[in-house]
Amino acid sequence: MDTSRLLLLVYMVITTSECSETAEPECYDLDTNTRNLNEGDAFNFVHDYLDINVPDEEITWFNNNQTEITADENETVHYHGGSLFFLNLLPEDSGLYSARHNTSSGKCINYTLRVNVLKKFVYDPINNSDITKKVTCPNHIRRTCATLSGKVTWNKDNKTLHGQNEYTLWVDNANKTDEGIYTCVCTWTHNGKKYNTSGHRSLIVQGDKVAYHHLVIISPTDKEQSADEGVGIKLYCKVYCGINMKRDCNASWEANGVSVDRIKGYSQVVTPELSNKTIFTAVLTIKKVSAKDFAAKFKCLGIGSIETVHANLTLKRRESIIPLVTGGVCVLLLCVLAAVLIKCFAIDIALFFRPFLPKSSYKKDSRVYDAYVVYQTQSMDKVTEDSLCQFITKTLPSVLEEKCGYRLFIHGRDDIPGEDRLELVEDRMQQSRRLMVLLTPGSGPESKEETLTPTRDSLIGGFDWQVGLHHALLQREMSVILIQLGATGPQGYSQHPAGLQHLIEKSAPIRWPEGSPGAAASNSRFWKRVRYLMPARPARKHPPSAII
Ligand SMILES: *[C@@H]1O[C@H](CO)[C@@H](O)[C@H](O)[C@H]1NC(C)=O
Ligand SMILES: *[C@@H]1O[C@H](CO)[C@@H](O)[C@H](O)[C@H]1NC(C)=O
Ligand SMILES: *[C@@H]1O[C@H](CO)[C@@H](O)[C@H](O)[C@H]1NC(C)=O
Ligand SMILES: *[C@@H]1O[C@H](CO)[C@@H](O)[C@H](O)[C@H]1NC(C)=O
Ligand SMILES: *[C@@H]1O[C@H](CO)[C@@H](O)[C@H](O)[C@H]1NC(C)=O
Ligand SMILES: *[C@@H]1O[C@H](CO)[C@@H](O)[C@H](O)[C@H]1NC(C)=O
Ligand SMILES: *[C@@H]1O[C@H](CO)[C@@H](O)[C@H](O)[C@H]1NC(C)=O
Ligand SMILES: *[C@@H]1O[C@H](CO)[C@@H](O)[C@H](O)[C@H]1NC(C)=O
Ligand SMILES: *[C@@H]1O[C@H](CO)[C@@H](O)[C@H](O)[C@H]1NC(C)=O
Ligand SMILES: *[C@@H]1O[C@H](CO)[C@@H](O)[C@H](O)[C@H]1NC(C)=O
Ligand SMILES: *[C@@H]1O[C@H](CO)[C@@H](O)[C@H](O)[C@H]1NC(C)=O
Repeated sequence: MDTSRLLLLVYMVITTSECSETAEPECYDLDTNTRNLNEGDAFNFVHDYLDINVPDEEITWFNNNQTEITADENETVHYHGGSLFFLNLLPEDSGLYSARHNTSSGKCINYTLRVNVLKKFVYDPINNSDITKKVTCPNHIRRTCATLSGKVTWNKDNKTLHGQNEYTLWVDNANKTDEGIYTCVCTWTHNGKKYNTSGHRSLIVQGDKVAYHHLVIISPTDKEQSADEGVGIKLYCKVYCGINMKRDCNASWEANGVSVDRIKGYSQVVTPELSNKTIFTAVLTIKKVSAKDFAAKFKCLGIGSIETVHANLTLKRRESIIPLVTGGVCVLLLCVLAAVLIKCFAIDIALFFRPFLPKSSYKKDSRVYDAYVVYQTQSMDKVTEDSLCQFITKTLPSVLEEKCGYRLFIHGRDDIPGEDRLELVEDRMQQSRRLMVLLTPGSGPESKEETLTPTRDSLIGGFDWQVGLHHALLQREMSVILIQLGATGPQGYSQHPAGLQHLIEKSAPIRWPEGSPGAAASNSRFWKRVRYLMPARPARKHPPSAII
C-alpha cells in the first residue's frame, strides 16, 4: 500500500513536469482491492486512496462489463463521488470494477475493485486455545460503518446477541456451546432507507477445555539440595502450565546458563504428565556429583507460549552423619563411664564430700556412741575366736576410734563390771546410733537347746542381740552394719535368727578381708564401706564422763 502511495506520488510529480498537452494522459493503475461479500447484502466501497468527496464529474466508474455506472441513487449499483454503492448484491455483480479519476490537476488514476458475491462468505475459523475468545468484525464492515455512521449488531447462528454493539465481540470462558457462526451486521441509512452489510466469522472451541495458567514451578521448591560427592543424583524440574496445555508447555534444566543437553555428564529427560493438568517434568541426571556441580548454578526453566519462569537451585554437600553418630556414641560412652564410676566410687565420693556438707544437714541426736558392737562369744573354733578377738581389740578400735574418731561400745571391753547387765545393754543400745553385728562362722545358736535357753551373754541370739534387733527393726532408731568375719559356712546364714536373716536380706554383710594386704588401712575398701554406713559425723563431742 505504501509503495503504491509512493508510486502515485512519483507518478504525479512526473506527469506534472511533462509539457505535452495534446497526448491523452496515461492512467495510473493502483492495486486492486478485493471484497468477498454476501448475497443480498448492501455494500459501500471507498478506495483507500480515494477522497470520498471528489466531485462526481471528476470520476467515472465502470462495471464488470466495462460499462459506465450511473450516479442515479435509485439504481442498486451506483456511485457518489468516491463511493461505490451496491444496495442488493447479486452473484452476477461479481467481477472487476474500476474508477477513472481525472484530477483537477489533469492527472488520471485508475482505482480497481474485485467483488466476489457469495451465498454466504465465512472467514477462516477462529481456532485457538484462548479461554476468552475474541471475535472481530471484518475490516471492510468497520470502514463502511464508520463512513456511513452505521450501527453494529451481532448475531450468532441467526440469533441476535443483545447488548453487543462493538466491533469486537468477547466470548468469555468459551465452551462447545459457544461454537458457531458469529455475524457482525452494520446497519446504515442511505437516502432514508436502511441497508445491511454483514460479515460472518466462525468460532471453534477445541474439544478439551483449555485453560492457561501462569506457569508455576512445582519443583524444586528449595534453593538448595543436598548431594553426596561421587554419587549420582536426579534433579526434578516440574512445571505446571494449566489445563490441557499439551502444546505450549515445556520444562528444562540449565546449568550456569547453558542447556544441560550440551553438558557432558548430564542427561535430561522431559515427560509430560498424562492428565488434564498439564505438568511437564524435566529430570536431570548427574552421573557422578563432583566439585564443579557444587559450584554450578542450576536453573529449572518453565517454558510457555507467552512466558518463561525459572527457579534456581544449587547443590550442597550433605552433612555427613558419621561425626554425629561418633559424637552420640562418645556421649553415650561418657555417660556409661560416669554411671559406672559413680556406681564404683559412690562410697568414696560420699566420704569425700562428707566434711564439706553443712552441719545443719545432719540429724541432731544426743546419742553418745556411734556404734554398739555385738558379736558371738561361744561355739567357735580357736581360729575364729582368735581372729574375732584380734578384730575387736585391735583392728576395729584402731581404725574407727583412733583414725576416724568414732566412739564404739564394744561389749567385753566397755562394760563396767558389776553394773546391771540388763540395764546396761538397754541403756547403751539407746545411746548408740548404729548396731554393728559381727558375724562369724557358726555364729547363731548351734542347737535347739541353746535357742530355747538364751544366755544373757553377748551372744548373737542372746540378750544383746534381742535388744539390738528390737531397736533396729521395731523402733527403727538404729541402722545395722553387718560385718562377716571368715567364711559363711556351709549353711550360709540360715542358722541365724529370723530377724537377723531379714536384715541380711536387706543389705549384704561386708566381708572382712582378713589377711589381705592393706585391709587394715583405714582407706581400704572394707573400711570405706564401713565408714560409709557409719554416721557422717562422730559423736565424740560428748566427753566420756557425760556418759557414765
Ligand atoms: C477523463 O479524461 C479522459 C481523456 O482526457 C476523457 O475521455 C474522460 O471522459 C474524462 N473523464 C471525466 C470524468 O472527465
Ligand atoms: C455483464 O455481462 C454479463 C455477461 O457477460 C451479464 O450476465 C451481466 O448481467 C452484465 N452485467 C451488467 C450489470 O450489465
Ligand atoms: C428515484 O425514484 C423516485 C421515486 O421512487 C423518484 O421520485 C425520483 O425522481 C427518482 N430519481 C431519479 C433520479 O430518477
Ligand atoms: C483500469 O484498470 C483496469 C484493470 O487493470 C482496466 O481494465 C481498465 O481499462 C483501466 N482503465 C483505465 C481508464 O485505464
Ligand atoms: C483447530 O485447531 C486444532 C489444533 O490446532 C486442530 O486440531 C483442529 O483440526 C482445528 N479445527 C478446525 C476445524 O480447523
Ligand atoms: C440462518 O437463516 C438463514 C435464512 O435466513 C438460513 O438459511 C440459515 O440456515 C440459518 N442459519 C442457521 C445456523 O440457523
Ligand atoms: C458452556 O458455558 C455456558 C455459560 O457460558 C454454560 O451455561 C454451559 O453449561 C456450558 N456448557 C458446557 C458443556 O460446559
Ligand atoms: C438488517 O439486519 C437486521 C438484523 O441484523 C434485520 O432485522 C433487518 O431486517 C435487516 N435489514 C435488511 C434491509 O436486510
Ligand atoms: C479430563 O478431561 C476429560 C475430557 O476432556 C474429562 O472427561 C475428564 O473428566 C477430565 N479429567 C479430569 C481429572 O479433570
Ligand atoms: C522441551 O525441552 C527439551 C529440553 O530443552 C527439548 O529437548 C524439547 O525439544 C522441548 N520440547 C518442545 C516441544 O519444545
Ligand atoms: C536466579 O539467579 C539469577 C542469577 O543467577 C537471578 O538473576 C535470579 O533473580 C534468580 N531467580 C530467582 C527466582 O531467585
